[in-house]
Amino acid sequence: MTDPLPLNEYKQQIADTYSRRSPTYDQSDWHLQIAHRLVEYAQLHPGDQVLDIATGTAMAAIAAAQVVGAGGKVIGIDISPGMLEQARRKVEELGLTNIEFLLADAESLNFPVNSFDCILCSSALIWMENVAGALQHWHQFLKPGGLIGFHAFADTSFIGVVVVQKIVEKYGISLHFSKPTSTAAKCHDLLKISGYDCIEIKSEQYISYVSLEQAKQMWSGNEYLAPGQFPNPLLQLSTEQIEAVKSEFELELSALETEKGIRNDITVFFTFGRKPVN
Ligand SMILES: C[S@@+](CC[C@H](N)C(=O)[O-])C[C@H]1O[C@@H](n2cnc3c(N)ncnc32)[C@H](O)[C@@H]1O
Repeated sequence: MTDPLPLNEYKQQIADTYSRRSPTYDQSDWHLQIAHRLVEYAQLHPGDQVLDIATGTAMAAIAAAQVVGAGGKVIGIDISPGMLEQARRKVEELGLTNIEFLLADAESLNFPVNSFDCILCSSALIWMENVAGALQHWHQFLKPGGLIGFHAFADTSFIGVVVVQKIVEKYGISLHFSKPTSTAAKCHDLLKISGYDCIEIKSEQYISYVSLEQAKQMWSGNEYLAPGQFPNPLLQLSTEQIEAVKSEFELELSALETEKGIRNDITVFFTFGRKPVN
């Protein structure tokens, strides 16, 4: 049995949330689609050593392991024991022997320097307490010339998130969600200040129509965890204010409803950079 990780309250809550969610996490098609796209863009080679940060149920790690083959290796790290349990189960079912999972905090890793040809982080960078600090921390573990790749959402993504952000601003609250990485320029600058070069960003837009109920579920009040913000700034609001935000949120979403449903934009920045050779 693995010793529990010493985590602060913010990270412990993330770990617990994802452990609870882990049995059904793989029902999310778009997480899989995005993880696979990140691996595809990374153009890994047989024999590569890959680190998958916040690997979850190993969506990206498994795809990477299939490319790097028996001569390569993928290490997936995560703070959620439940997510790693699902990851291990899947890898065993697939009979893959070139993946290893470790319970570890992405912001305090302990690998030898220059270990990896590629470091990936899919659907997880916004959970870091210090996004730029995390990218700088990972830099040392890449071999010179090695590739880092993460994906991030634009500030136009997820209609429920866009609407709630606008409403809570009236109460003087700024919810980060994807803000630290919400434009291609921000993604570029984050990699630049963290010491990477050869930065390339591939932007993709996925448009779908969701039902009113689905849109409402994109924000569930002040009881959810706010990525990168602890405690959740919405806890500053009174019960009456939260109720008022919720009513306005539902009203605004209803106004956006069309025959096809509510238009939901998911714009994604697949962001890549390299550790300079010298
Ligand atoms: C949305 S899931 C993404 C999982 C996977 N990368 C994917 O593409 O499906 C976010 C994951 O980040 C993990 N996570 C969040 N903060 C972390 C940290 N500081 N260190 C390691 N894992 C972390 C969570 O436990 C969760 O498994």
